[in-house]
Amino acid sequence: MNQIILQHDNVLSDVHMFLPKARQRMTRLNNVGQPVFISKFKFLSNAEKPERNDEGTRENSDTETHSAQEDDEEEDSERNVEPALDEDGDLDVTHRPRNDSTGDDSSRSREVVCPVILKQSHKSALQNEDDETDECFDDIIRLEHTMATPLEDVGKQVWRGALLLADFILSKPLLFKGATVVELGAGAGLTSIIMATLAKRVYCTDVGEDLLSMCRRNISLNEHMIERAGGEVRVRQLDWLQSDLCTDPDVDLSWTEEEVADIHDNTSFIIAADVCYDDDLTDGLFRTLYRLCSNFAHACTVFISIEKRFNFTLRNMDVSCDAYNHFRHCLSQLEDLVDGQCSYTVEQIPSTFPQFLQYERIDQLELWKVTAKRVPFDEAQSNSKQCTS
Ligand SMILES: C[S@@+](CC[C@H](N)C(=O)[O-])C[C@H]1O[C@@H](n2cnc3c(N)ncnc32)[C@H](O)[C@@H]1O
Repeated sequence: MNQIILQHDNVLSDVHMFLPKARQRMTRLNNVGQPVFISKFKFLSNAEKPERNDEGTRENSDTETHSAQEDDEEEDSERNVEPALDEDGDLDVTHRPRNDSTGDDSSRSREVVCPVILKQSHKSALQNEDDETDECFDDIIRLEHTMATPLEDVGKQVWRGALLLADFILSKPLLFKGATVVELGAGAGLTSIIMATLAKRVYCTDVGEDLLSMCRRNISLNEHMIERAGGEVRVRQLDWLQSDLCTDPDVDLSWTEEEVADIHDNTSFIIAADVCYDDDLTDGLFRTLYRLCSNFAHACTVFISIEKRFNFTLRNMDVSCDAYNHFRHCLSQLEDLVDGQCSYTVEQIPSTFPQFLQYERIDQLELWKVTAKRVPFDEAQSNSKQCTS
């Protein structure tokens, strides 16, 4: 672990970079050699909650930003990292050359990643580490995650969209009480855990063996909260690029026939946090939403959080937010759809709901609501007549 290697295409979530007063504890290496950390997500006390005006911006954001910066400075001095500067005082960054000159994807995909380890835990993740914050253990969600991952493993980190969606859920306890909910692209599982403190049953879904097993561990780590509320989380595979739910009993975390019937008969909410960052995956996600809603017995409401990320692209030779624009395009297509089964309405939810968890609720974080209603039988008949005439 002496050598620190960050791959050129690794991404690191701001949640892990800027979590104020965070102490990342490395707990283990996962089975692809990535260091796994454990972080605590604390519910803010009333005194700590940022005030929000009608536009959803924080009124005390200056002071909060200042304290976050102070925390960063403290961490920097702890790490004793001196940035390398050239003669003009510019940052001198050495880029690591790409090593896939062979074009062989398999050699590139699983290089060991070693981010800076701030603190290493000697206890297992499931043990209760006895520091001061555990005194109010009921106010803390503990999650395993990795710190910097290639794009295909982004679900192993926690993203700000999950915290925005979690805040919204916590602000609407009566809406979600006793509901059956499906989460798509749940990643480390934070939003499903929060939802299960209100809902009756949450199907927490994603893809990938490592990710789903990390997610399952996170559910166990927070089981006391879920059980006390009478909720339940079932971790299941759901791949947006497949047209059917996997019901093969030999496949780990596949669906039983009863579960498939349960989601069709009882789901009233689908939730998804930060799941639109690649256009092909976004198309798959919307196809999945369409398929699920068309099979549901009742109306369903979908909540999707997204962070509008601006990138410079060579294609546009400018800064743009292509993934966000594609997401908005998919929303419009869904709203315009006339298929005789469901009708869809779309609206943005202003981010004025209270903040329960600690993160920076930046203006680029958005929450969208899609309502899918079954088209009444008579209307469906007349739509189909119009289409055929
Ligand atoms: C940016 S992460 C967000 C994770 C989590 N919701 C959060 O906000 O912290 C995107 C998630 O989408 C999942 N995802 C990507 N492709 C998928 C697919 N084809 N089917 C299901 N989930 C997928 C990833 O595994 C990952 O968990």
